[in-house]
Amino acid sequence: MDHCFGEPSAARDNSHGAGVELYLELMKRCLLNEIYPELEMSAKTYEASDRQEGREWPAGAHTMIGRKRLDNIQSCIEDILKHDIAGDLIETGVWRGGAIIFMRSVLKAYGICDRIVWGADSFCGLPPPKESYPADQGSWLHECEELAVSLTEVKANFQKYGLLDDTVRFLPGFFNDTLPNAPIERLALIRLDGDLYESTMVAIEHLYPKLSIGGYLIVDDYVLPPCRQAISDYRASSGITEEIAAIDWTGVFWQRLS
Ligand SMILES: C[S@@+](CC[C@H](N)C(=O)[O-])C[C@H]1O[C@@H](n2cnc3c(N)ncnc32)[C@H](O)[C@@H]1O
Repeated sequence: MDHCFGEPSAARDNSHGAGVELYLELMKRCLLNEIYPELEMSAKTYEASDRQEGREWPAGAHTMIGRKRLDNIQSCIEDILKHDIAGDLIETGVWRGGAIIFMRSVLKAYGICDRIVWGADSFCGLPPPKESYPADQGSWLHECEELAVSLTEVKANFQKYGLLDDTVRFLPGFFNDTLPNAPIERLALIRLDGDLYESTMVAIEHLYPKLSIGGYLIVDDYVLPPCRQAISDYRASSGITEEIAAIDWTGVFWQRLS
């Protein structure tokens, strides 16, 4: 059972104040597992700076995107709410679910129940590289079992935060199967985190046309040449000229203006 508190209108002028900030700060610490790092039972060593900067595949945390990319999600959503930009939120490539769990927590903190958070993923890892996408040739990411997280596990992670409700929906399957006919009308925020050229291109091709003016497009993997190439190709073919802003050493975003 979902319990929304507060009025959406109050949320838009940020009048929830300190309680929201305290809750979202604690969410970030939990999602990054800064709270109990000593409990990560892994051969990997825990480097606080790597965790903060999102430079590792953590053994125990629910997201690998680091602090600045979580902050970026929060500020984009707050701007969307402030300016009443219509649409749902989606991440393509959710892994353990941390980024979309955080999206739902931001909406919930502001009392928003009328926007869906969509999570698109195969829930079994990346697809092998296809000949039709030369930029992906040689990629070994599909062999990484660490990147294969089941939908059951992602839902269980949502439940740990008390955030699995009917405003959270999943699109299980490879993006080329799920995104072309996804039952999404309009988006205010798109977060691309699929690593490959194919995963980035398929997602942006099918979702960007649904992005509201004033909405945000976030790219997690811009440091990876195949992802960067897909973004560059799509921007060129679609005439997108909005300036790309850096979030951190890999994440970028822009606001759709036309
Ligand atoms: C780097 S992880 C995402 C990290 C996540 N956003 C987080 O908060 O930690 C990449 C995810 O993308 C998914 N993925 C990549 N390409 C895909 C595709 N073409 N179709 C479906 N899922 C894909 C993988 O299964 C994996 O869960």
